[in-house]
Amino acid sequence: MNTIAIDPRKVPSVSLSNGNQVPCVGLGTFGSDHISPEKVAETVELAIRNGYRHIDCAAVYQNEKEIGVVLEKLIQEGVVTRDELWITSKVWNDMHDNVQEACRQSLHDLRLEYLDLYLVHWPFPNYHAPGCDGDSRNPQSKPFCAKRFMNTWRQMELLVEKGLVRNIGTSNMTIKKFDATLNHMQIRPVVNEMEIHPCFQQEELFKYLISNNIQPIGFCPIGSPQRPERDKTPDDAIDTEHPIIIEIAKKHNVHPAVICVKWAIQRGQITIPFSTNPRNFLANLEASFAFELNNDEMEIIKTVECNSRLIKGQVFLWEGAQSWEDLWDY
Ligand SMILES: NC(=O)c1ccc[n+]([C@@H]2O[C@H](COP(=O)([O-])OP(=O)(O)OC[C@H]3O[C@@H](n4cnc5c(N)ncnc54)[C@H](OP(=O)(O)O)[C@@H]3O)[C@@H](O)[C@H]2O)c1
Repeated sequence: MNTIAIDPRKVPSVSLSNGNQVPCVGLGTFGSDHISPEKVAETVELAIRNGYRHIDCAAVYQNEKEIGVVLEKLIQEGVVTRDELWITSKVWNDMHDNVQEACRQSLHDLRLEYLDLYLVHWPFPNYHAPGCDGDSRNPQSKPFCAKRFMNTWRQMELLVEKGLVRNIGTSNMTIKKFDATLNHMQIRPVVNEMEIHPCFQQEELFKYLISNNIQPIGFCPIGSPQRPERDKTPDDAIDTEHPIIIEIAKKHNVHPAVICVKWAIQRGQITIPFSTNPRNFLANLEASFAFELNNDEMEIIKTVECNSRLIKGQVFLWEGAQSWEDLWDY
């Protein structure tokens, strides 16, 4: 691919509560424990060369160093300016007491002077080793504690004051956890990153976020078909195999995955699908402007909802917790 495939100016932006503009489609970078850091970085390079401007990173994905090499190269070559990019990273659970150190490490690895967005990846300090299996538990794990979370959040606020990050946000929060913390924050989260796909729409939390001026970012928008084994159970729904999604995809002559992405954008969440396949990741970006779902299609996709949470987070459970539902305040 020598010429740019998609003009990034065609991709709509979403306005955050503070006026910052974020491209509504970003590229995920979690290689699901089986795609190498080099392959993910190569994908980021191809994606930016062909129109992506928003990349969703995290320290725990263990590929920020490789992505940093690519970002530096593309900026030096003049393919893109730093200002044109929206780069997100996240503090991992074992660094909640050392947020500034974690942020500086991500900046160093990504070869950047600031991040556009920095998130608290999970609202508890419960660490599990990357690549662990689903039964693995850390005996140090603890339930959510608002006071401890606010200690981490205050460190996030300091990063904004120091100019290391432009925006801060949360991830994997619940209404109960927001209710216990939002009023104590000096800087409120501009976004909450959370699992959203047609089979798991999280309507109540979505509405709560909108009413609090917090922009939802939806992860696993396609239902993460290649997620790690620890995150799979026999009851999980498969979005891209749902008859309603398949029928709408046939009408628009696109892959069902593209309908999941388009539904996300039209509903109003920022979406961050991952793919290493250029045809697929470009189809996801193109979906942001190339066609529309009509009202009937948007309405019928509401009925695909079946409360199928995929990233249950059971590896973060603490001693005495009954099941993964406890993490989500059910
Ligand atoms: N904040 C958090 O706690 C959290 C948790 C999970 C994920 N995330 C973020 O969200 C991102 C996305 O989630 P995810 O990677 O788990 O899952 P996903 O984006 O729902 O699904 C990715 C899968 O969909 C396939 N795919 C993508 N576009 C396609 C298309 N147009 N046609 C056909 N297949 C397509 C990909 O296969 P091919 O490569 O073959 O195209 C890949 O297997 C992650 O990469 C990560 O950045 C954040």
